[in-house]
Amino acid sequence: MSGRNVLLLSPRKYGKSSLVMNTLDKMRRKGSLCAYINLSRVTSVHRFLGVYLREVILEAEKNKEKAVLLFKRMLPRTHADVEIDLDNLLDPGDKDIKEDRIQQAVQEVMAFPQKMALKKRKNFIIAFDEFQVIEELDGESLLQSFKCSVEKNNKVSYFFSRINLGDGSELGRICDRYHIHKVLRLKKIPRARLALYLSQRFEQTGYRLEQGVMDEVLKKANDYPYNAQFLCHELWERKNEKKNIRKNDVNLALQDIIKRQSPFYISLWENLTSRQRNTLRAVARLGGEQIYSKEFSRAGGVGSLASLQTSIQLLQKKNILNRTNKRYEFEDVFFREWILTEIH
Ligand SMILES: Nc1ncnc2c1ncn2[C@@H]1O[C@H](COP(=O)(O)OP(=O)(O)O)[C@@H](O)[C@H]1O
Ligand SMILES: [Mg+2]
Repeated sequence: MSGRNVLLLSPRKYGKSSLVMNTLDKMRRKGSLCAYINLSRVTSVHRFLGVYLREVILEAEKNKEKAVLLFKRMLPRTHADVEIDLDNLLDPGDKDIKEDRIQQAVQEVMAFPQKMALKKRKNFIIAFDEFQVIEELDGESLLQSFKCSVEKNNKVSYFFSRINLGDGSELGRICDRYHIHKVLRLKKIPRARLALYLSQRFEQTGYRLEQGVMDEVLKKANDYPYNAQFLCHELWERKNEKKNIRKNDVNLALQDIIKRQSPFYISLWENLTSRQRNTLRAVARLGGEQIYSKEFSRAGGVGSLASLQTSIQLLQKKNILNRTNKRYEFEDVFFREWILTEIH
């Protein structure tokens, strides 16, 4: 509300997107204009402009026909370059904006929320989820205009969220570049709170839980809300008739999930090099702490330090491992469980 830009950081599956969307809902109820853009669904600058325009214009004008008129009036130059039809509203589709015109279009589009905010006398909050993708979109002009508009648009605040950054210097660079005033780090939800939330959901639907069930669920899920909910869903389905859940049901449900996910895990596994497989096997068995220690490399049979580093980097890139403070963790703890039961 104070017009500051915020960066939200965490590993994957910690709840960033949920938190961003909840926040936007709240801000909208308080009277702000809000738009949510998930960059991981965008593959080019051209598509980015389409998605961005759609979200921003439809926030300002819900009626689609009026929205098109608004588009024409407020974005005359972009409008001339982007063919639109009513079925594919405000989305440039696959028609390319000409290379020499794209810069103009980017500038106009990026300046649009500020104009809208002034016109409506509201502030505009724009959330960019999976923000790291912006650096991968092949478009210098986009980055340049983006930086300028973040600086100039004083009625617009930006809520960036992304996976953790490598080191401190990278964070500093990003904060400078996008005028970020505040960095928030999302941690895992404390076990007791998540346990309470989940067990209340069971109780509301008439289930009884044996003492310690939720603790077991969260241990197996390594406190990832995604895996916890996945496992709870499985338990809920399995016990739909009896509605009483015992501690050893947790493991049975988990084994079922792993069996069902097995084809997916096999193909994931088969796409890894043997070095990566050994590294993963070692992380699964020994845990992801001090992976550059002698003990780890001896016990894990993972080869030289340099090759271990390369494997770890690639496994992070493939979204298989997450780095938290000092540890490497499986992003999908059920995949770890699969490795422990299926791989020798
Ligand atoms: N506060 C919360 N309480 C319970 N479950 C949550 C909470 N926040 C997120 N989740 C669940 O965790 C999973 C991952 O959340 P998501 O927002 O997609 O994470 P991220 O964007 O960090 O990858 C989703 O299944 C979501 O339902
Ligand atoms: Mg997300």
